[in-house]
Amino acid sequence: MTEEIKRSQSSADEAARQQQFMDKCKVYVADFADRHGRSPRACVVTFGCQMNARDSEKLIGILHHVGYEITEDENADFVIYNTCTVRDNANQRVYGRLGELKGYKRRNPEMKIALCGCMMQEPTVIEKIRKSYSFVDLLFGTHNIFKFAELLCATFEQEGMLIDIWKDTDQIVEDLPVERKYAFKSGINIMFGCNNFCTYCIVPYVRGRERSREPKDILREIEDLVADGVVEIMLLGQNVNSYGKNLEHPMSFAELLREVEKIEGLQRIRFMTSHPKDLSDELIRVMKESKKICRHLHLPLQAGSSRILKAMNRCYTKEQYLELADKIRREIPDMALTTDIMVGFPGETARDVEETIDVIRKVQYDNAFTFIYSQRTGTPAAAMEQVPEEEVKRNFDKVLKTVQDTARERVARYQGQVMDALVEEVNENDPTLMTGRLSNNTLVHFPGDKSLIGQIVDVSLDECHGFYYMGHRV
Ligand code: 5AD
Ligand code: SF4
Repeated sequence: MTEEIKRSQSSADEAARQQQFMDKCKVYVADFADRHGRSPRACVVTFGCQMNARDSEKLIGILHHVGYEITEDENADFVIYNTCTVRDNANQRVYGRLGELKGYKRRNPEMKIALCGCMMQEPTVIEKIRKSYSFVDLLFGTHNIFKFAELLCATFEQEGMLIDIWKDTDQIVEDLPVERKYAFKSGINIMFGCNNFCTYCIVPYVRGRERSREPKDILREIEDLVADGVVEIMLLGQNVNSYGKNLEHPMSFAELLREVEKIEGLQRIRFMTSHPKDLSDELIRVMKESKKICRHLHLPLQAGSSRILKAMNRCYTKEQYLELADKIRREIPDMALTTDIMVGFPGETARDVEETIDVIRKVQYDNAFTFIYSQRTGTPAAAMEQVPEEEVKRNFDKVLKTVQDTARERVARYQGQVMDALVEEVNENDPTLMTGRLSNNTLVHFPGDKSLIGQIVDVSLDECHGFYYMGHRV
């Protein structure tokens, strides 16, 4: 038997096993409904990135499938936090909110509290929760999320805290229920984990080594989504540019994109995240020739100083990054570039920060996420000499201001033009407005009604307000 057949058989066996646990859960849920005269309510809270958002859709899919009513109210019968640990403030938010959940649980003794996601892969976190948050019922990690039905079942059957954390896995389980947040767009995991070991980053430790999904599984999932009304997809991976290297029949990310492009009915393709060191000319060509790939590329810079980039193990220099950005702009002039920037990496001086500011000015990003470096236990950078907090804060403010000033100018370049926008939702602040997303990822707000949600419509971009437009339909 080939590796591939073996793998897909064991994935199917595991999916069938989990289905049995879902059937069992249904019985417990029905019993709850009998005793209380209502279905139990479940709340899934997501911290962190798009990967976690997609994982939460899987958790919700299972909870819904077994009979839970899904709510956003944390005063529920089952609450699960899907956690992030990329920066320490994400961890602190989880601890803060757990305190509140304790109060709810006191009033609702049947309430179950679960924690999963990246934070759970850290042994110090598990220790802390065992000691100080003993009212939590279930802890599991990133590698065994496919076992959620089984673990949920166990919370009905046993008392006390259930902990199931795996160090790593090579398993990818397909075909479990998923409930999408949006009917018309969806994220799709194409790979899991990361092999890059940037020296500040905890992701490779908590998400494990890189594993790519089989192209046929990805394509089938997209076809099913399109049949179900999805018009825009986002291919997800920590470093999509190294997709396919570990497959039995290796395939590049550019080749995968060519296949995805052929899917009829699919209108927009996005992907996240690209590592600059692996962005190939072939990928630029595919993006250029594509009718469906959106005009937006997220290309994390992290820092502009080659010395700091080296210490970060990013495997490119300032000059190489600038050359890459230039090449992309030369080939695809309307491509919006966005980035992640970190300030305060160990050893970063005011001169290094000037290099970062220089790159921001030269590249002219449409948007940039700026972060203060956060020391993560176990990463090489945690052992390096840290920059004093006040200095970091000063540098951060400078970088943020540069980003805001340059992006404001850059985003406004389409003022007065008409572009197509995928209508996503009713505007949060004004119910007479709808919010749409342009191919280049900029948002536009315009008068309209709910019936437009999920459609791609032409919108005149009347007025730019920093990072978004006000417009009207034409
Ligand atoms: N501190 C601050 N920001 C970090 N990121 C990753 N690790 C850290 C850290 N230790 C940022 C990077 C990455 C984004 C997802 O999070 O900029 O691109
Ligand atoms: Fe972290 Fe670097 Fe991997 Fe991104 S590429 S997840 S920053 S180690």
